Amino acid sequence: MDEDRSITEAASLINQAKCLVAFSGAGVSEESGIPTFRDPGGLWDRFDPYELGGGDIFSAMFRGSGIPRSAVDFVSEMVSVLERASPNPGHLALGELEGMGILRSVITQNIDNLHREAGNTLVIEVHGNLFRLACLVCGNKIYLGREELFSMGRKLVELMRESDLQGIIGLVSRCACGGVCRLDVVGFGEPVQDMPLAISEARGSDLFLILGTSGAVYPAAYLPEHAKKAGAKLIEINATGCYFPDIVDIGIIGKTGDVLPRVVDRVKELRR
Ligand code: APR
Repeated sequence: MDEDRSITEAASLINQAKCLVAFSGAGVSEESGIPTFRDPGGLWDRFDPYELGGGDIFSAMFRGSGIPRSAVDFVSEMVSVLERASPNPGHLALGELEGMGILRSVITQNIDNLHREAGNTLVIEVHGNLFRLACLVCGNKIYLGREELFSMGRKLVELMRESDLQGIIGLVSRCACGGVCRLDVVGFGEPVQDMPLAISEARGSDLFLILGTSGAVYPAAYLPEHAKKAGAKLIEINATGCYFPDIVDIGIIGKTGDVLPRVVDRVKELRR
């Protein structure tokens, strides 16, 4: 089916949907300058996820073997790309669909807070959110402002370059309960967040959008199947291919920042 016809079909399904839910991955933020993980030149193409995806960076440091150069480069890159990032037309289109009363929720694997910045309110972040701290004792969550997070990030990079263990420990925030706080993001092998809510949103949907994800990471990648089994129709938009070919009803190969605004325009035409 040619792209324009797929966009019209997708808009027609969205226009009829009673409960639309979106599921997003790194591809949605690629046009905001944040590299994806598994594309050529992506983060896991240049860095070892198992060295960086868990807490090993700091345990290496506590063992006194200094901080791997790759860890410094990784954190430094993340601080600079996230600091420059803002919602792109793909994020804004989802914000608009919520504003039109069509989109109910966004389930995201992204930790960049861009769906919230684009105006979506029910955002289920199964891999956490970088702009949030979580207390390891009472579980309290504390939101960080952009400048608060990025000045901490820049300071961390500096201290990592010097392998300054004391300095890094000094950056650790404390909760009101006295507990130590960590960034509220999910590392490899750690439990995901709000999965029961994400599953109930997927199962409650009659139309499920799959946006910019390779579907390589579980349990998040089960969510399209939950929606399908519950009778929802599925639309996938991905720049490099269709990663759920067996279950999607419409697959559009294109960038979400280009395709989603065109879909929203078509929905508006249908509603005139
Ligand atoms: N628009 C749409 N799709 C895009 C775009 C774009 N502008 N740019 C890239 N893509 C596609 C890629 O081709 C790829 O299929 O988005 C997908 C991104 O896949 P991954 O890099 O694997 O990211 P994601 O699926 O979100 O990874 C899941 O893995 O590393 C962990 O915790 C991390 O949340 C992440 C999880």
